[in-house]
Amino acid sequence: MQNFIFCNPTRIYFGRGQITRIAEEIAPATRVLMTYGGGSIHRNGVYDQVRAALGHAKLSEFGGIEPNPRFETLARAIEQARAEQVDFLLAVGGGSVIDGTKFIAAALYFKGNAWDLVARKAPLERALPLGAVLTLPATGSEMNPGGVITRASTREKLPFRSPLLYPRFAVLDPTTTFTVPPRQIANGIVDAFTHVLEQYLTYPAEAPLQERFAEGILHTLIEIGPKTLAEPRDYDARAALMWAATLALNGLIGAGVPQDWSTHMIGHEITALYGLDHARTLAIVLPANLHRRRDAKHAKLVQYARRVWRLDDKDEEKLVTGAIARTRAFFESLGVPTRLTDYGIDPEAIPELVTRLERHGMICLGEHNDVTPETSREILMDAI
Ligand code: NZQ
Ligand code: ZN
Repeated sequence: MQNFIFCNPTRIYFGRGQITRIAEEIAPATRVLMTYGGGSIHRNGVYDQVRAALGHAKLSEFGGIEPNPRFETLARAIEQARAEQVDFLLAVGGGSVIDGTKFIAAALYFKGNAWDLVARKAPLERALPLGAVLTLPATGSEMNPGGVITRASTREKLPFRSPLLYPRFAVLDPTTTFTVPPRQIANGIVDAFTHVLEQYLTYPAEAPLQERFAEGILHTLIEIGPKTLAEPRDYDARAALMWAATLALNGLIGAGVPQDWSTHMIGHEITALYGLDHARTLAIVLPANLHRRRDAKHAKLVQYARRVWRLDDKDEEKLVTGAIARTRAFFESLGVPTRLTDYGIDPEAIPELVTRLERHGMICLGEHNDVTPETSREILMDAI
């Protein structure tokens, strides 16, 4: 096992009715800026619940943070937060709203061009505190210190992170997810599943507990995924999905183990250029990536085949092929296509995607730093 430091300071309030608890987290007279997306929280009653819980605070709001949150939109929120001298940010929504709010928190005290926080990974010395009310189980942003921001003008989508950006608290009430459209639930399952694989499907690192945790999350997603899609108001299934997605990317399973993340970095370029949902890009890239790098990942792919998909064959190559095929079939069974051409993206697009990876410094990705632009090109070719 590799050395690691583990500290996750986000307090979780999980379960029905927990939105009322934010009153305990936010002191009276705090100037709170509540951030949200395109209006789902107005339609499902979450907005009213948050307002009612924060009766004691000075509440203002910024709505309209879009999926794949845009730097240009967030710049307006930053101006508003400065003008109102807010003390606290409360993100109410999915990963995009939470990521966007982390960016506001980071940019508020940052001297210089805020885009440098993502483009140059400028170090952060101070950030505004934030909390989250999660309404879509998927990204894990509610309990981690990272985010991903898109600059519409240049069509760039880049990650940023800082220990200062862990939400102070996050409310996870599964009933808030009853209204999530099936497409977004399917996306959430694929995203969480891929988060686990980015941290699990690398090479053996003598970390049996992290591996069992990871396999447990994968089993849970496989078991409850179809059920929660079919029965959106099944509380227990939604609760299991919500907690699984949070634990998939809160640092626990990634502590002390090698990590890949090349699928994500390649996927970000597809979203930036073509606007595909984040998870859909992962469904395209992941099976092709596993196939292309099956030799380097052999031992863990065999373990994944046996323990997660319960495949049984003496021939290890057949196990690996079977595990990749099962992964693809699982995504497809959720209604998430796994080929570039399923989304109308032609092979002619690939050179530009690779050029953009190079431009963003994504030239030695993966757990061995050996995913070069040429490897990314091959992966994308396999993904056609
Ligand atoms: O904007 P509203 O009206 O709220 O509607 C949203 C949005 O249209 C809707 N929605 C959310 N909760 C709902 C709901 N509709 C009905 N009922 C509810 N309860 O769902 C749509 C998608 O929302 P979004 O927040 O974009 O989805 P998701 O949570 O999948 O977030 C995706 C973003 O997170 C980033 C992705 O790159 C992408 O930009 N990621 C963040 C990560 C992190 N911070 O750690 C890791 C991930 O790998 C990922 O990259
Ligand atoms: Zn993701």
